[in-house]
Amino acid sequence: MDDEAATSLLEEAREVLALNDRQGWTVPAGDLYPHQWLWDSCFIAIGLRHLDIERAQTELRSLLRGQWSNGMLPNIIFSGKAERQHVDLWRSWVSPYSPENVSTSGITQPPMLAEAVARIGQKLKLPERRSWYKEMLPALVRHHEWLYADRNPHQEGLAILIHPYESGSDNSPPWISEMRKHSLPHWIRLIEKLKLDGPVNLFRRDTKHVPPGQRISNIEGLTQWSAIRRLRRKAYNSEAVLSRSLFAVEDLAFNCMFIRANKILKDIAKTAGQDLPEYLVDDMAKTEAALEQLWDESAGQYFSRSFVSHKLIEEPTIATLLPLYAGSITKDRAAHLVQLLKRRRLFSTSWPVPSVPLTSSYFDPYKYWQGPTWVNTNWLIIDGLKRYGYDDEAKVLADKTLQLVAKSGCYEYFSPLNGDPAGAANFSWTAALAIDLLKS
Ligand code: GLC
Repeated sequence: MDDEAATSLLEEAREVLALNDRQGWTVPAGDLYPHQWLWDSCFIAIGLRHLDIERAQTELRSLLRGQWSNGMLPNIIFSGKAERQHVDLWRSWVSPYSPENVSTSGITQPPMLAEAVARIGQKLKLPERRSWYKEMLPALVRHHEWLYADRNPHQEGLAILIHPYESGSDNSPPWISEMRKHSLPHWIRLIEKLKLDGPVNLFRRDTKHVPPGQRISNIEGLTQWSAIRRLRRKAYNSEAVLSRSLFAVEDLAFNCMFIRANKILKDIAKTAGQDLPEYLVDDMAKTEAALEQLWDESAGQYFSRSFVSHKLIEEPTIATLLPLYAGSITKDRAAHLVQLLKRRRLFSTSWPVPSVPLTSSYFDPYKYWQGPTWVNTNWLIIDGLKRYGYDDEAKVLADKTLQLVAKSGCYEYFSPLNGDPAGAANFSWTAALAIDLLKS
């Protein structure tokens, strides 16, 4: 990308972040997502650190407003003003652990906070870095402890997710296939059979901003809504939820980010001159080892696993490439994943990396997490490629990603075939990560 194009992209991205700034925290996209989201704010802070380091720190501090007393970081902190119906759907106050005076969801999202804290740390001189780490460490430790205490009931090491929203990729094929197998209530099956889902449109706000073909279907949306109500009825108590649910997944992408976050957390603690509890360090080692259980030798790839049946969910997605980001796999395994990334039939499209490979029966270039290219997953893959020494491949993908955003704008996602923009316009993490790729 030449200097002129880079300057204009930087300016555009800066404007998007300014537009979405809510004084101390940032919305993912003003119309569609009017609250604060967990992993969004982490990616946003990673970009903001190049513009205004204090503002980037504030973005992360503001996430801690929502932290539950058991350590959970919720995926959404509701903005005081907007969208009362979201607050009422989740009713976080039904849990004794939810914070007072702040309404949140009752579930989490991928643990990207340690990464964001460390990326800001890289920009600070050592004394400031130490005090920044010391400030953030207690919340980070509590969050990771919670993931182990609450989402690892058999102590096998892999975090278990209880709602697709927790994966960050709401309609990713493994979740949709599990949902269809185990979680479609009878009344929703009936609505589907009789094709009576039309009225659902009256209650959907996403499709008022984005064409319906680019979002999850009414039936999927309805099922996810009813799954939230079930979690709410159980007061977000995961023991109660897991004891009677067939809908719980050891999500591959989430656990890859968890492994990376654990490693970073250890580095943060070391720089801060503090020891992590021994049991936590032991748990972290278990997660790295357990990732290998998600490898399917005959398919030659990693998959998510159903927590209930303990079977791999053989639906290929971009998550199979994220062990590169985890950084814990062998060099041979990494080389194999790079081959998959380069295969034209799978992930090497004109505007990579599609969220599912071209061969997936789910593939649709515009449909949310079932085909489109997302800038955050590209960023994770680029980082992983570098970690394994694939600098050329990382550079090619970074350049392609920047060209895509320069050509089509800071959209939420893009067709991997022709680069057309899709989803929400003025999407914060696209802007923030474009800034990071430009500046790194
Ligand atoms: C969608 C995405 C999720 C993101 C949220 C806000 O729900 O699937 O990953 O955090 O939007 O941008």
